[in-house]
Amino acid sequence: MKVIIAEDYTKQCSIAADIFEEIIRAKPDCCLGLATGSSPVGMYQELARRCREEGLDFSRVHSVNLDEYVGLEPTHDQSYRYFMDTNLFDHINIDKCNTYVAKGTGDVEANLREFNDVLASSEIDIQLLGVGGDGHIGFNEPGDSLYDHAHLEVLDESTIDANARFFASRDDVPRYAVTMGVGDIMRAKRLLLIINGNKEDAASQLLLGDRITPRCPVTLMKIHPDATVLIDRALADKIGYKG
Ligand code: GLP
Repeated sequence: MKVIIAEDYTKQCSIAADIFEEIIRAKPDCCLGLATGSSPVGMYQELARRCREEGLDFSRVHSVNLDEYVGLEPTHDQSYRYFMDTNLFDHINIDKCNTYVAKGTGDVEANLREFNDVLASSEIDIQLLGVGGDGHIGFNEPGDSLYDHAHLEVLDESTIDANARFFASRDDVPRYAVTMGVGDIMRAKRLLLIINGNKEDAASQLLLGDRITPRCPVTLMKIHPDATVLIDRALADKIGYKG
C-alpha cells in the first residue's frame, strides 16, 4: 500500500486529481469508480476546472458509484445521484448515460440485480474511496463478516449521526443504503483513499495496525495490489504516522 502525506486539503485534492487525470489521458474510455461524502468534493472541483480550462476530456469516460441511500429519489438534494450531478457531472463533458448511481427508490431487489449486473460488466480502472469514522467503505459497515457483492446495508447509528449534518434533522437520515460489496471494491484495478478530519481510529487501524479486519472494513485496502492512501498532514500528525 502506497501512502502519500499531503500538506493540506487543497494539495490532497490536486494529487488525487493528478492520479485521475493520468488514468483518463492514458485510457479515454476508462471506468471510474466514484464516491460521495465531503472528502472528494475538492477533487471533483479540480477535475471540473481541468475539464473547463485544460481540455481534460470525459466524453468517453464511464463511471459507477459506490452507493446510494434507500428511500431518496434521485432529485432529492441528499441523494447520491444528485450529489454526483451537482458536484461533478454537470460541470464536465461526461455523457450522463455513461454514469451509474444505483437506484434508491422502487423495488430494492430489482435495483440490486441491476447494480450487480452493472458491476459484473464493468472493469473499474480506479475506485475512489472515502472512509466513515467507523471504518466503513462505501456503506459496508463493520461486522463479523462483509459482503462480496452489492447488497442492502443497515446503517450503523454512528453513520446516521455522522451524516445527520446533511439533513434537516437526524430523523430524516435514511436507515438503509445499497452499496457495492467489499469484493466489488477490491476487484477495482486501483484504489485511492482520501482521508482527513476526525478519522483517527480508521487511519490508525489502516496505517499503524497490522490487522485486516471486518471490524474496520478500510483495513482490507492493505491486501489490494495497487492501493494508495492519500492522508493530510494534520491527520497523519494526530495519529503519529511518520510515513
Ligand atoms: C458516507 C459515504 C462513504 C463516505 C463517508 C465519509 O457514509 N457512504 O462513501 O466515505 O460518508 O464521508 P466524508 O468524506 O464526508 O467524511
